[in-house]
Amino acid sequence: METSKDHIKPAAGRLGVLTVGLGAVASTVVAGVELIRRGLAEPIGSLTQMGTIRLGKRTDGRVPLIRDFVPLAGIDQLVFGAWDPISDTAYEAALKCGVLDRHAHVEPIASELKEIEPMPAVFDRSYVRRLDGLNVKPKASKRDLAEALREDIRHFKEAHSCDRMVVIWCASTEIFLEPGPAHQDLQALEAAIDANDESVPPSMLYAYAALKEGVPFINGAPNLTVDVPAMVELARTTGVPIAGKDFKSGQTLLKTVLAPMLKARMLGLQGWYSTNILGNRDGEVLDDPDSFRTKEQTKLGVLDHILQPSLYPQLYGDVHHKVRINYYPPRGDSKEGWDNIDIFGWLGYPMQIKVDFLCRDSILAAPLVLDLVLFTDLAQRAGLKGVQEWLSFYFKSPQHAPGLYPEHDLFIQQTKLKNTLRWLMGEEQITHLGMEYYQD
Ligand SMILES: NC(=O)c1ccc[n+]([C@@H]2O[C@H](COP(=O)([O-])OP(=O)(O)OC[C@H]3O[C@@H](n4cnc5c(N)ncnc54)[C@H](O)[C@@H]3O)[C@@H](O)[C@H]2O)c1
Repeated sequence: METSKDHIKPAAGRLGVLTVGLGAVASTVVAGVELIRRGLAEPIGSLTQMGTIRLGKRTDGRVPLIRDFVPLAGIDQLVFGAWDPISDTAYEAALKCGVLDRHAHVEPIASELKEIEPMPAVFDRSYVRRLDGLNVKPKASKRDLAEALREDIRHFKEAHSCDRMVVIWCASTEIFLEPGPAHQDLQALEAAIDANDESVPPSMLYAYAALKEGVPFINGAPNLTVDVPAMVELARTTGVPIAGKDFKSGQTLLKTVLAPMLKARMLGLQGWYSTNILGNRDGEVLDDPDSFRTKEQTKLGVLDHILQPSLYPQLYGDVHHKVRINYYPPRGDSKEGWDNIDIFGWLGYPMQIKVDFLCRDSILAAPLVLDLVLFTDLAQRAGLKGVQEWLSFYFKSPQHAPGLYPEHDLFIQQTKLKNTLRWLMGEEQITHLGMEYYQD
């Protein structure tokens, strides 16, 4: 496939960003972008805003900022909207979630945050049991609900004079669903929507609506949503990028750095026990075993793919991997994640690594949302459609082409992302071979 920077449409005009869910993560993104816009904060954690990219040889000295290298929308061009079954404005959500300091980071931008009132959601308690809200669309068929969401997208775009739109799922984790016959192709999915089939949860209706409107869809939760053949087919048919799933923000981020290190040094692994306490609404929703099961799948998947036990049976053939999330209200959004890692080295001698990550869930997730929105919009303007595997860097369970295994190693993901940007702009790939520096 050929590409060149001349094929990328300019990032002109306003980019509408609709978040499904206006909870801790979404309100932290919206507030952060407004603060950064006004010069009251720095975009720390955001690759699109702070990251650089090396071009050419190490001796060339060409290291532009990514946002100067690729034509990304500027944060001044973003316009936010949301859906949520809870009617709190972004201001009320930011205060209730308690992530940001009220006086330093919420009150100075109160009027902007108050303007963001969530649109009534497509919400069904059978898919998220530990949650309730009154700001929901009236009960209707799944087809009518999908049409109502399409209308919301069109209306928002027109009302805010947006040139382009992106929809990103920042809503609660739905109960565990396996891909079934309704998800296998677009025709089956359309029929399932028309039949009000239970295999189509609200998240799929949002994704369907976005893709039908030609709007990219990003999935920040572990729900199946666009990770089924029917949605990939729809995205390819409508020429729209999709990306998912489940933001890789904390414990799994560390896991996908530490596990490649063990493998790189051929150190063995006996067991990896990961546990968390968190007290935000996400923690409460994940306290329902069916929602936790969805999360558990994305959290557990990474080690096998990184360690490749079939290639290294002596090192990784018998790994005990456990992941726990405990809802503990006093902590709010300030999660604590512990990892106990039992490893073994030369001659089989055992050793242990202990990690205690005192993190802030939404502070880690917010820059990922910003980057994903900007990169996905870039992908759309560059004519990339369907699964955007180069954005694996941001996800616990990256979507990938059938027949491939997902790439979980953070630094391979980073190389893939940066090489994709170089490729998009017609720059040489960086292989790190470097023989040219040693030639006479
Ligand atoms: N570091 C992180 O924070 C992190 C990392 C990975 C994934 N995630 C995922 O991101 C999502 C958001 O996390 P959060 O901490 O903001 O949670 P949150 O509970 O604070 O916010 C989620 C919001 O989604 C709303 N919602 C639920 N169902 C909806 C629907 N059908 N339509 C519209 N809105 C709906 C809820 O009312 C709530 O306000 C969760 O699924 C979480 O698992 C977060």
